[in-house]
Amino acid sequence: RPLDINIELPDEQAAQKIKIGLYFATWWSLNVVFNIYNKKVLNAFPYPWLTSTLSLACGSLMMLISWATRIADAPKTDFEFWKTLFPVAVAHTIGHVAATVSMSKVAVSFTHIIKSGEPAFSVLVSKFLLGETFPLPVYLSLLPIIGGCALSAFTELNFNMTGFMGAMISNLAFVFRNIFSKKGMNGKSVSGMNYYACLSMLSLLILTPFAIAVEGPQMWAAGWQNALAQIGPNFVWWVVAQSIFYHLYNQVSYMSLDQISPLTFSIGNTMKRISVIVSSIIIFHTPVQPINALGAAIAILGTFLYSQGTRLSYVYKYALCKAVRGSG
Ligand code: 3PG
Repeated sequence: RPLDINIELPDEQAAQKIKIGLYFATWWSLNVVFNIYNKKVLNAFPYPWLTSTLSLACGSLMMLISWATRIADAPKTDFEFWKTLFPVAVAHTIGHVAATVSMSKVAVSFTHIIKSGEPAFSVLVSKFLLGETFPLPVYLSLLPIIGGCALSAFTELNFNMTGFMGAMISNLAFVFRNIFSKKGMNGKSVSGMNYYACLSMLSLLILTPFAIAVEGPQMWAAGWQNALAQIGPNFVWWVVAQSIFYHLYNQVSYMSLDQISPLTFSIGNTMKRISVIVSSIIIFHTPVQPINALGAAIAILGTFLYSQGTRLSYVYKYALCKAVRGSG
């Protein structure tokens, strides 16, 4: 994947910036809508394993219809592609279901505050499992990320251990998903949109038996009746909305990953969390103590410092390469 350094003409640069801006705005808006409907559904129907399965099923169906009707070209894949995709799908499934379990137990804002700590997991996994090293500013940025998340967790009014652990497991799983998908998407012949479609389908196959084992049709039937009685027919539309928006926001995020570096992507992801945290606090009237908000702000500031530290190391390596090449 190219470094995040532009060598385009000013007009091309401006057009590219507008395009990326539009991708980001669409990605964040779809994500905010998903998070709101997802929480509304989970409040009335606390079966996160089924709702996670439905969102993958809905995305898979949407893409199968798009391919069948030629709205989108179906990808040409082989056994090797699906083999490489398998570990990505396992990590995606775990990350998705863990985040949904978390959101069924705690406020959406709390799940996303903990999820803003994902860069810390990325650095720790890369260092201790892959032996990668980072410049000092990157390590220092972990202090506000971890400290801010910890402050938020300790001062959260409606703290719940399952909710906290779900967000932490989701962070870890998504770090592995990113590591595995780098391998799968490098030099790929499949577009970001189709890559995510295949990922949804494989994740659906992996998740379905576990969802049946953990929750199962009996619980779902009783819960569904209960939710319908409480909310009325609108409940069905909420489920449809959370499923469609889940697929759309992920699809747009994978489409934008086609256009930008992983670093720009991770900055976009942090900005996305700010919009989700703020909008969900407003919509669900989540009680927030000033100290709790301070923790979230410190953690998010930490993720910005992390991205700046990583950018610095790219620029340094780029300058070093140029100097070495220049000197012969
Ligand atoms: C999910 O359900 O997969 C999570 O909400 C994903 O969270 P993220 O895409 O914001 O990391």
